[in-house]
Amino acid sequence: MDIFHIEGPVRLSGSVSINGSKNASLPIMAAAILAPGESSLKSVPHLSDISVCGKLLSQLGCKLTREPDGDLRIDSTVIDNPVGEYEIVRRMRAGICILGPLLARCGRAEVSMPGGCAIGDRPVNLHIRGLQELGAQIHLKNGYIIAEAPNGLRGKDIFMGGPFGSTVLGTANVLMAATLAKGRTVIESAACEPEITDLANCLNKMGARITGIGSPRLIIEGVKELQPVEFKVIPDRIEAGTFMVAAAITEGELRLQNCRLDDMMAVVDRLRNIGVTVDAEGDGCLVTRTGPIKPADITTQPYPGFPTDLQAQFMALLSLTDGNSVIIEKVFPDRFMHVAELNRMAANLRKEGPVVIVAGVKKLIAAPVMASDLRASAALVLAGLAAEGSTTIQRVYHIDRGYERIEKRLNPAGAKITRESV
Ligand code: EPU
Repeated sequence: MDIFHIEGPVRLSGSVSINGSKNASLPIMAAAILAPGESSLKSVPHLSDISVCGKLLSQLGCKLTREPDGDLRIDSTVIDNPVGEYEIVRRMRAGICILGPLLARCGRAEVSMPGGCAIGDRPVNLHIRGLQELGAQIHLKNGYIIAEAPNGLRGKDIFMGGPFGSTVLGTANVLMAATLAKGRTVIESAACEPEITDLANCLNKMGARITGIGSPRLIIEGVKELQPVEFKVIPDRIEAGTFMVAAAITEGELRLQNCRLDDMMAVVDRLRNIGVTVDAEGDGCLVTRTGPIKPADITTQPYPGFPTDLQAQFMALLSLTDGNSVIIEKVFPDRFMHVAELNRMAANLRKEGPVVIVAGVKKLIAAPVMASDLRASAALVLAGLAAEGSTTIQRVYHIDRGYERIEKRLNPAGAKITRESV
């Protein structure tokens, strides 16, 4: 239960290297289940969610090792317990993405139904329906999804869209299962997020036959088996976006290394529109803010739209403009736990259903606040960097789920963040 103390305001100036993507790493780790043997993954970040995923794979029978060079080795030669326990899946919803690969490899899987979380209900009906379309028999028992396909899965044309558009982990689950199904699967309305593209590229390197990668129509020709793989995960676009906002909110200048602007067009477009300079440079970019920033309207959408995972961070930034902004959350309509906390720091935010009206204020004022979920907590850190005085953030473990030692990364650039272990 660590606490952050953040002294503000500061002006950041320096460089930060972006780590491998958490949300690409998690399904790619699950993909190792599909190919008996030892896979080796590069750029998997050192985060608590990754450790939890490792634990989940270990319970199935896999052996995991972190090499001195940081590579993560997953030996999936033996999988003798195809069960994703509640104790683990309740801590990390992404645990659900072992369902498809386990079913494809073992013909059976039991995975705890993930519960809701601070950002909303988060159902898994589309995951289940997609796997049923591939021929799996699925029922619920004692809070577990029991999926069976003793005679293997069969390819099919599947529509994966839901009321909020595509589903990222649902697409990952069905895509992974379909690689070993008999015949051809078409996933229509597939998620197009770069993390799904990375997963599909990794699966193809393992011997899968996937085309349409990056589009909403994925076509998968089933193969008999996949081979273990060596694969490097893409940089984390959400971490990069968070650090871009850190530069902007502190009127600073940050050089981001290992950052793919191509994956972040909607974010870079918003930043440039409000008056922040983002210049491509080497393998990353330089983000600079020299003057006042303008208000903006932001609507979160599945990729290539503006990502919900940066909505909270942009709300902190837009709090400090001269005028009104409107933020509409179309992916997780309840993802607003940060609103009340930012208001405690003298922001002027009014929530109406899935919409927040951001009335710009001249300054934010430090306050004790509570981290509630990963991205909401990141927004509080950003607000703390810009606010006058000493901000205290409780429940820092939420931040540690997605940002590796954020204080060690930002302090060399001028942040004053101290971690207190309680
Ligand atoms: N949905 C359904 N039914 C389903 C699945 C999803 O109705 O079966 C709805 C959800 O309730 C939501 C929308 O579809 O309204 C999109 O949810 P999605 O399934 O795409 O979310 P996810 O796959 O569970 C991943 C990321 C999230 C990110 C979302 C959206 C991982 C591990 N998680 O979640 O990341 O917000 O996609 O981009 O990849 C984070 O990193 O902080 C985070 C929450």
